[in-house]
Amino acid sequence: MTRILGIETSCDETAAAVLEDRTRVLSSVVASQIAIHRDYGGVVPELAARHHVEAIGPIVGRALDEAGCALDDLDAIAVTAGPGLIGSLLVGVSAAKAIAWQRRLPLLAVNHLEGHVRSAFIEHPDIEFPAVALVVSGGHTALYLCPEEGVYRRLARTRDDAAGEAFDKVAKLLGLGYPGGPVIERLARGGDERAFDFPHAQMKDGSLDFSFSGLKTAVRRAAAREGLAADVVSGAEPSQRAIDLVASFQRAVVRVLVRRTMKVCAREDVHEVIVSGGVACNGRLRGAFEEAVAEHGMRVHLPAPRFTTDNAAMIAAAGFLHFDRGDFAPADLNADANLRL
Ligand code: KG4
Ligand code: ZN
Repeated sequence: MTRILGIETSCDETAAAVLEDRTRVLSSVVASQIAIHRDYGGVVPELAARHHVEAIGPIVGRALDEAGCALDDLDAIAVTAGPGLIGSLLVGVSAAKAIAWQRRLPLLAVNHLEGHVRSAFIEHPDIEFPAVALVVSGGHTALYLCPEEGVYRRLARTRDDAAGEAFDKVAKLLGLGYPGGPVIERLARGGDERAFDFPHAQMKDGSLDFSFSGLKTAVRRAAAREGLAADVVSGAEPSQRAIDLVASFQRAVVRVLVRRTMKVCAREDVHEVIVSGGVACNGRLRGAFEEAVAEHGMRVHLPAPRFTTDNAAMIAAAGFLHFDRGDFAPADLNADANLRL
């Protein structure tokens, strides 16, 4: 039996979790800072780092309590080493290093994006390789080909905004609040998603890369043209037309994510799909992927919603790969805001 404590502080969630033998989540505690950043319409890095400092000790303590174990029952500490906000990352890395040094435990450096990919394996340990993994979050939108466990070849990324960032910006411009994804998903259920026809961004050079800033601009123009932004900013309930607008926007995002992923799968002859990251919480996206793979006799693996947005169970899950390979981090591990997968 192996137990790994995961620690995640790359953005605005302070999280700790204990995972036993790759798939048993003994605890997963996430302290969200949404309430702190909401007034600013986005994450303020300095505030995030300061709140991580306050939260990290109690959150690790709670994760151990809920798991019913002590530090001495652990076999390793896995921590997000990047990418992310440097001030935030440093809090988690420092905490992990201190615990590892004090308890003489191996330290495992995890790439946040690998954590998102591995979040799907917690409940779907039977995922087969090769697989194609789509990571869609607030900071990243990328497609990876995974020929075997622990190997990631990036085939596409976003050239501008991440998909989650597009949700957040569209919600902000319509005065709907932060984070945008959950608000838009909820409103869109009552909207006509064909009311607005948004273009499907294709790269002129034939690459599979994503681009969401054009779509965001198209939404902004439509909102300005129809006076929708003003409507909502005044504090009134969003009009039906504004709801139709966000529903159409959501459909456009879902369509491009699904199509591009299916195209990569066809090109690479892959039948296993992993969809992870905060945007993978979106029910419309989940449904669209399930439909698309069913048509082609493929399988899609979606993490449980609580493991899609930032959490530490996924960091511990990725940590298991490093642990099993004996891939330990040095005691002087540093955080890297731009760590590549
Ligand atoms: O993975 P995550 O927690 O953080 C990053 O690593 O970036 O993703 C957060 C992002 C935010 O942009 C948020 O708006 C989006 O995920 N998100 C959603 C939903 N829930 C969260 N987007 C669409 N639909 C949702 N239900
Ligand atoms: Zn994330």
